[in-house]
Amino acid sequence: MEELIREMRQKIEAAAASVTDSKEMYQIRKQYLDNKSGKISALMKNMRDLPPEKRPAFGKVVNELKTWALDFFTSQDSRLKAAELAAKNASETIDVTMPASAFRKGALHPNTLIANELIDIFAGMGFTIFEGPEIENDYYNFTALNTPKDHPARDMQDTFYVSPELLLRTQTSAGQIRVMENAKPPIKILSPGKVFRSDDDATHSPMFSQMEGLVVDKGITLCDLQGMLDVFARNVFGEGVKTRLRPSYFPFTEPSVEVDVSCFECGGCGCRLCKDTGWIEVLGAGMVNKKVLENCGIDSDEYTGFAFGMGIERIAMLKYGVPNIKMLFESDVRILSQFNE
Ligand code: PHE
Repeated sequence: MEELIREMRQKIEAAAASVTDSKEMYQIRKQYLDNKSGKISALMKNMRDLPPEKRPAFGKVVNELKTWALDFFTSQDSRLKAAELAAKNASETIDVTMPASAFRKGALHPNTLIANELIDIFAGMGFTIFEGPEIENDYYNFTALNTPKDHPARDMQDTFYVSPELLLRTQTSAGQIRVMENAKPPIKILSPGKVFRSDDDATHSPMFSQMEGLVVDKGITLCDLQGMLDVFARNVFGEGVKTRLRPSYFPFTEPSVEVDVSCFECGGCGCRLCKDTGWIEVLGAGMVNKKVLENCGIDSDEYTGFAFGMGIERIAMLKYGVPNIKMLFESDVRILSQFNE
């Protein structure tokens, strides 16, 4: 009998010796101590086969074995669990002295920077924002702007048509008509947005952005236009910068002008940027054509107005020295991150 008990102890110790995992140890514990199938519980059941006088002594040794086994497995369990916790803690240790991995900060796109800057400048002069649709009908983009179907000026803007009557707007000037149809003068709006033309080279892209300005009121003259553009030029390109108007042609303005700014790179003495002329062309403008005012139901004897339209990418390229317009559309972070301010 004693022999049997000693053997079982040895077996338990031997089985436990190679175990390094608390779950595995629990399985071994079950083999011996499970109430139904455990080997020690089975010994107790054997008691029935013994003569009654031997039962108390037998019961005592089996109980001692059971108590020993319970203690044994409990201490094994806490030993293994302590080791497991230590290993887990070690694997999760954080080295607080390690340099932190930096987050990449987002930044505004140069086009957005310029658009925001222009909006700030003109909002300071009392302009409010109007945004028209990118898909326009022929009437707003051309006809109402004094550019009927057979007008040669349509060739100036190679147009993407969606249907015979619908097109991707080629100019934010379309918004002028939408505003004037719905509002009575005084009108003072700024209209930013994407425009589309079938055009593609280092300085032209099939999609680009414009900023339109429109002022209509009694007694508005070309001097008002130049005064406001002077404020714009000084704010965007620098204090000493001047503006110059040159005669030009747009069907919807009369007279029409191209507006140059004095070269902010060389101060007007001539350099590569201004192609030795001292001046850089930045936008088109003019007095709103009487026909356009009349198309919108505004009395052209009582009211006059001026309009201007500039390319936002062009301003961004000039101001930041971007050599190719594609750089503004390729989303290359190495380029865009340089505009972090
Ligand atoms: N819409 C013209 C263009 O895209 C620019 C312009 C706007 C000219 C307003 C005069 C007045 O070229």
